[in-house]
Amino acid sequence: MAVYKAPRGTHDIFGELALALEKLDVVARNAFKKRNFKEVKTPIFEDAALFTRSIGETTDIVEKEMYVFEDRKGRKLALRPEGTASLVRAYIEHNLNQTEPIGKFFYSGEMFRYERPQAGRYRQFSQMGAEYLGNPNPSADAEIILVAAEILKALNIKDIKIHLNSLGCSSCRAEFRKKLVEYFSSVKDLCQDCQRRLEKNPLRLLDCKIDAEKFQNVPTMHECLCSDCRTHFEQVQFLLKEVGCEYEINHKLVRGLDYYTRTVFEVRSSSVGSQDALCAGGRYDNLVAELGGPQVPSVGFALGCERVLMAAEKNGFFNNLNSEEKVFIAVADEELFSRAFSFAYELIENKDNIRNLCSFKDNITVEGPFGGKSLKSQFKLADRIGASKTVIFGKNEINAGKILIKDMATQEQKEISYKK
Ligand code: HAM
Repeated sequence: MAVYKAPRGTHDIFGELALALEKLDVVARNAFKKRNFKEVKTPIFEDAALFTRSIGETTDIVEKEMYVFEDRKGRKLALRPEGTASLVRAYIEHNLNQTEPIGKFFYSGEMFRYERPQAGRYRQFSQMGAEYLGNPNPSADAEIILVAAEILKALNIKDIKIHLNSLGCSSCRAEFRKKLVEYFSSVKDLCQDCQRRLEKNPLRLLDCKIDAEKFQNVPTMHECLCSDCRTHFEQVQFLLKEVGCEYEINHKLVRGLDYYTRTVFEVRSSSVGSQDALCAGGRYDNLVAELGGPQVPSVGFALGCERVLMAAEKNGFFNNLNSEEKVFIAVADEELFSRAFSFAYELIENKDNIRNLCSFKDNITVEGPFGGKSLKSQFKLADRIGASKTVIFGKNEINAGKILIKDMATQEQKEISYKK
């Protein structure tokens, strides 16, 4: 018999990780909703050209990592490698600039990139992201950075650093491009990717892992920023400082997607190994227009759920995931099974405020009853699932109109009236 395994670079999510992912979802949604970001769900696959056009033909994602396939009618489709392009496509398709007075959106879901798998790098991974469309003000950049930082803080992740840079606009980028071509042309033995990208997209060379060592004293974008871009960048920094948000300027931060203009940032953690970017984003003032919409300056970010949870785990986030009280229903006598079964139902539905009657908390998890097991093995099971209370249905108690509630930690038992 063939033994099937999850495809390379994918993983099954269960147990603690599933619980942690659920908590991250709640934390991020709260942070987004508090700031009036609204959810948009887009398809998992799109026209492949949407990504080629937006992310850029000479990026790693488009050149090497996209899952591209043809459907039965020969349409060239791609599993989404990221969420921004899809969201912008939806924004244009549904004219959201006309119906939404403020273009604040968030999304969550699976992304796909054919990368070499390693800790924190997968072929299928989850992102949660926010996009702020239509606000050219530096305050939108600051708000996006702050919401990202706020989510990480709410998860108790302390060892983070915000890396910040500006990539300028198309006019100051042209100047930077010229300086880079001049600089890189003088570097000997560039790798094949760098040689190929030198003419088309010299910024990409700053990202090269193979040649990184050879690049000393590379020109920085900062030297080339025009006065508007410089002011914008200073304003973003001013606002971050105003609210006490710490960051570090990183001249080498260029990001792996071509749509960025002006502000770019990454939040990195020192506790997760080489794949240390927990979230990343930046401004993309021309993307909506480049995809056929109006000129809508925008900014956004996405966090990688798996990486964020790796960092959260290192910071103790997994220690108290099971905060609900678990209540186990046990039957001492098989005849009472149906009574116990309907009691479990009443407890789940909280009929007649029965949780209060039993002195249980509001957010309890109810498990059982199980037929055909001795009372001893039911107690064992209750222990194994971490039940804090076990409700016991015994003949004598039921005949006296009562049930027993056992505290699993202290082993104390108390009787309460239960008449049905
Ligand atoms: P990105 O930097 O490609 O940006 O991805 C954002 C985050 O997704 C990364 O910081 C990382 O945590 C996670 N991530 C990326 N690739 C993988 C992978 N192979 N395995 C696990 N996690 C991964 C974007 O996707 C942009 N759309 C962000 C953005 C939104 N910019 C503006 N708006």
